[in-house]
Amino acid sequence: MDQHQERVDRIARAISQLKALLIFILVALTLVPITLFYGDDLMKRIDSVLQARRQPVVIREELPKEVFWIAPDPGSIKDVSVQAQIAYGKELIAHTAKYLGPKGIVMQISNGMNCQNCHLDAGTKVFGNNYGAVASIYPKFRARSGTSENIYKRVNDCFERSLNGKGLDTLSKEMQAIKAYIIFLGSNVTKGSIPNGSGLKQLAYLDREADPERGKSIYNAKCVTCHQANGQGQKAADGLEYTYPPLWGPHSYNDGAGLYRISTFAKYVKYNMPQGVIHTNPLLTDEEAWDVAAFVNSQSRPHINVPRDWPDIAKKPVDHPFGPYADSFTEKQHKYGPFKPILEEQKKSMTTAQK
Ligand code: HEC
Ligand code: HEC
Repeated sequence: MDQHQERVDRIARAISQLKALLIFILVALTLVPITLFYGDDLMKRIDSVLQARRQPVVIREELPKEVFWIAPDPGSIKDVSVQAQIAYGKELIAHTAKYLGPKGIVMQISNGMNCQNCHLDAGTKVFGNNYGAVASIYPKFRARSGTSENIYKRVNDCFERSLNGKGLDTLSKEMQAIKAYIIFLGSNVTKGSIPNGSGLKQLAYLDREADPERGKSIYNAKCVTCHQANGQGQKAADGLEYTYPPLWGPHSYNDGAGLYRISTFAKYVKYNMPQGVIHTNPLLTDEEAWDVAAFVNSQSRPHINVPRDWPDIAKKPVDHPFGPYADSFTEKQHKYGPFKPILEEQKKSMTTAQK
């Protein structure tokens, strides 16, 4: 009886094994041609499905951000003496008055302002009149002097005009330190190129003349708390530097300085003032920036004699406020605009000159 049962069981097991084998052969027989004919296609499809799963979800609003120049880190300098020189250069840019102002501990050659008052964050702020492009583009030809200028000349231009003072001796410890610092700032910029975010951000011309009267009310609404009603700013408690630098009067930049052109002033102010503004969130409209520039630059300030400026008067920028000019527009229009007609005329005479 047991023997019989055992035999039946064995046959049943053999049958089910045979069934499994048959199913396997059947499946194999159908799969082989499929993979032979469609194998590549199939693998690609499987792959693309997996790929799609692996990819992060793309949110439309998050478009790639623009990349702006970032100053290199002084901590990356290995040589201790080079590091010290660059630190001194930075200190002179940030606290010029302490060393070189009217009560300067090294020399007394400038008006009490700091380079940093206009070259924000020691010349590193994006569109804050930074030095990102200086090492890469100097020496360069400048139409104002009609010569090729090196960094020493450019730095002394600001001492003589923006700081209404005297230039530094090229070989002085101070000039060498300032130069080393500026070159260090540009050490991550390819020679000849101008990095995004360097200097000042462009601003469109108005269709009308900039209006000092409107500018005055903007000044009283948005600038007066810091720069004061008389434009003289406010000294810090130590009496050496300004907490709020002057915008006009005897201690301000002179009429040969870059800020005395209203386009430069408007660009600087639009993207940097009131204090704390950055280029991505300006508080002034374009009109307000131009009008307040016209107001501030219609106030009195020191004069500098620069008879050798603009040897080729045709190269004067449209808003250079002093004649003679190569065109027939008035000094007033060259100071306040509208600038577009002047620009048009300049373009025309350039194309005629080329003919
Ligand atoms: C009152 C404002 C002001 C002060 C203070 C000032 N500068 Fe300038 N500086 C300017 C302006 C405006 C420009 C020209 C910006 C332009 O036209 O794009 C300029 C340009 C420069 C440039 C050339 C930048 C370039 O990209 O071509 C250098 C270098 C420079 N200044 C150095 C200095 C140094 C060093 C000091 C301090 C001794 C100083 N500046 C103080 C306003 C100032
Ligand atoms: C909250 C205070 C504050 C307000 C408001 C303010 N500024 Fe300034 N401004 C400063 C400070 C501080 C500096 C110097 C920045 C530095 O040294 O880092 C400066 C620098 C400047 C400079 C360059 C240096 C100079 O003295 O020539 C100009 C030009 C300027 N401001 C114009 C304006 C104008 C125009 C307004 C109004 C639209 C304005 N500021 C509003 C605090 C202010």
